[in-house]
Amino acid sequence: MSQSDSSLYTWAGRFSEPMSDLVKRYTASVDFDWRMWRQDIRASLAHATMLARQNIISTNDLADIERGMAQVVSEIETGNFVWSLDLEDLHLNIEKRLTALVGDAGKRLHTGRSRNDQVATDIRLYLRDSIDDIVILLGKFQDRLLDLAEKEAATALPGFTHLQVAQPITFGHHLLAYFEMVRRDAERFADCRRRTNRLPLGAAALAGTTYPIDRQFVADLLGFDGVCENSLDAVSDRDFAIEFCAACALLMMHISRLSEELVLWMNPRFGFIRLADRFCTGSSIMPQKRNPDVPELARGKTGRIYGHLTALLTLMKGQPLAYNKDNQEDKEPLFDTIDTVNDTLRIFVELIPGITTNPENMRDALRQGFATATDLADYLTRKGLPFRDAHEAVGLAVRRAEELGVDLAQLSLGELQRFSTRISDDVFAVLSIDGSLAARRHVGGTAPEQVLAAIARARRG
Ligand code: ARG
Repeated sequence: MSQSDSSLYTWAGRFSEPMSDLVKRYTASVDFDWRMWRQDIRASLAHATMLARQNIISTNDLADIERGMAQVVSEIETGNFVWSLDLEDLHLNIEKRLTALVGDAGKRLHTGRSRNDQVATDIRLYLRDSIDDIVILLGKFQDRLLDLAEKEAATALPGFTHLQVAQPITFGHHLLAYFEMVRRDAERFADCRRRTNRLPLGAAALAGTTYPIDRQFVADLLGFDGVCENSLDAVSDRDFAIEFCAACALLMMHISRLSEELVLWMNPRFGFIRLADRFCTGSSIMPQKRNPDVPELARGKTGRIYGHLTALLTLMKGQPLAYNKDNQEDKEPLFDTIDTVNDTLRIFVELIPGITTNPENMRDALRQGFATATDLADYLTRKGLPFRDAHEAVGLAVRRAEELGVDLAQLSLGELQRFSTRISDDVFAVLSIDGSLAARRHVGGTAPEQVLAAIARARRG
């Protein structure tokens, strides 16, 4: 990044003293907004094409602009473009270089445009591309969840409430819960894309422009679904970015819950799963350690995304219409949100197939937790006992089994009949883990056959 060349100021004519280096650094955004260069150039070319079509600039000017921009693109791609802090942001950097390359045509590019509608357009284009990347990754994440759920469709796992053993479920069913969350996340991103995909250009600084522009033509060239209807709103609104960050916050919250479970399940006291070594790290002091760093970091990075959402909401709440320089602060939170969500999804797409289960430990945990107590209560209800009375009878039976240090299924028929005379030897089918799973065979239930049916529906879309 080159510094200090006050002759470069676009607005030098109006000012009598140069900016201090500190103020320059404080007000500049090129350090972070340079990454929108492809979008900026794409939008500039569309704008120039429209200006020529409307006879606002000549076709020669357009040809010069196109030639110059091709040169700028190649300089940036090859790392030969010099980004200057003196030129404040990416827009002025690119325009200045274009003008150095092609002369007056470069100076005509900004006709009927302001950096206010220019930056709003760039962000929307950038975010639209980012949403498309994220939606593709979400699809892969969903596919991996479905694949693992299929493999584990009949693997019995303790379902918890209050983190205490509640009822048997299948691991496949548990994974499908996350599939549903991610499916809704994907819907939210698709919805957010619709509102992001509108063209601000034409709003100019805030009030529109006096040139005979054709906004719809530019919108079509850039693949926007339409134009922003109000020029003030077009340059000042950032709600699409906030909405994006909110969708990311929800997605990360879901990933964080999954991460928390992975960490718990990896603890040897649970011993339910193993994560592939490449997602774990060792300790510098304790030789025996194998730490689940990746899920822990995903949990931690969720906080950072919530922070960015709060930053953007707070950034906007006090701003009068229309554009204010405050808006420049939208980029770093937005870019970091995009990067963090992208990396997290890419890692989880790899991590999910690297999960192996230990079904024996899962079954042991189920046996120790009297997980089929509700099944026994339902059995008694089917035999005519009111559910509340059945609940109480089973409570007493659990107490007895606990005293004896056995599971409900290990109590003798005689022992069980002390709690209700309605119990007969068909009870043992009900008390088994697989019987309990198979009985929940309605849509949305945990029976292995239902898990497979849900996977088939999900794959059909
Ligand atoms: N760098 C600025 C931003 O990110 C571009 C728009 C500047 N507009 C202005 N009137 N100073 O918002």
